[in-house]
Amino acid sequence: MKGFADRVSTVEEYYFSAKLREVNQMIAEGKPIINLGIGSPDLAPDKLVTEALKNTADNPQAHGYQSYQGIPELRTAISNFYSRAYGVSLDPSKEILPMMGSKEGIMHLSLTFLNPGDEVLVPNPGYPTYTSVCKLVGAKPIYYSIDLEKAGRPNFEEIENQDLSKVKIMWINYPHMPTGAPGSKTLMQELVTFAKKHEIVLLHDNPYSHILTKEPLSILSIPEAKEVALELNSLSKAFNMPGWRVGMLTGREDWISKVLKVKSNMDSGMFLGIQKGAIAALNLGESWFADIESTYQSRRKLVWKLADKLGLTYDEKAAGLFVWCKVPEGKTADQIVDELLYERYIFITPGKIFGSDGNDYVRFSLCMPEFKILEAINRIK
Ligand SMILES: Cc1ncc(COP(=O)(O)O)c(C=O)c1O
Repeated sequence: MKGFADRVSTVEEYYFSAKLREVNQMIAEGKPIINLGIGSPDLAPDKLVTEALKNTADNPQAHGYQSYQGIPELRTAISNFYSRAYGVSLDPSKEILPMMGSKEGIMHLSLTFLNPGDEVLVPNPGYPTYTSVCKLVGAKPIYYSIDLEKAGRPNFEEIENQDLSKVKIMWINYPHMPTGAPGSKTLMQELVTFAKKHEIVLLHDNPYSHILTKEPLSILSIPEAKEVALELNSLSKAFNMPGWRVGMLTGREDWISKVLKVKSNMDSGMFLGIQKGAIAALNLGESWFADIESTYQSRRKLVWKLADKLGLTYDEKAAGLFVWCKVPEGKTADQIVDELLYERYIFITPGKIFGSDGNDYVRFSLCMPEFKILEAINRIK
């Protein structure tokens, strides 16, 4: 054995992969843990979705390898969804590539666009996978701050003060995780202009567009965005299907075909039942979104109460699946996270795992039923 690849030492095990071992150990010891840490929707998908999966599983013909680009019916359902939800027109045969979730897509996109030594603009705070995948492919993350008073606007002035000649891609994510900064059409237009000016590929990671937002937004709805942007989207949060592993990449044909070139060497098409379930989900009507909206609104009100009790502050206009809270003067986020976990058995996420701008914050997930959040409130004296 002559050692592991150098890249292994560039990353840590994913925070939740390690932390949930500890939390699960506490549960095994009988501690009544309330998990407000991870953003994994706890509710079931629609019945039509699970029925589509079950019906497919019973078909003996359904278990073979599937097309690398997904079945045409799935790509059509994605195209119709983009048209209804965002007013974006996509050619199902060329501008859509189904994926096993957007996390997987981050790796495929990075392998497609980046050489060792290239630079990548990454939001701080931001989804940790942007950084770790960037490092795994030998590229260098360049962090940019976002302004929470301005819908999550990157500090373009600060970014442009740096040498951007080696920057190839920029990760953006609105509604932004973990802060809930909603983004806006105006901001996306600014991003497209910025990307064109600096010849940077904009990669918009868009899994939260339907969670507690005023209007679902796609970067591809911005004029000329297709020239410079690709978009990842996912059924994990919007349709309660995180364990199914199904999402999509959308955008210009010539870039999508390069991603397919890479991806088709790494995996095969998704199980047909998952594709059929995804089609059923994407075809759901407005009432599905109205239901999840009201569920998360009620839960969020309770989480705000919990935060109030802990002396934390938050933005009521934020979107997405989390409540992002600033810790009060005189306390650290680690103290709050540890006190809650070890004394009240409430698991929440420290903001520092999303980047240095998250140091004074903690994140609560809305993926717990109301009675559990009420119980958490009652545990705070
Ligand atoms: C910003 C962001 N992008 C991507 C993902 C991954 O989603 P998926 O389940 O589609 O891989 C998450 C999941 O938490 C996320 O918060």
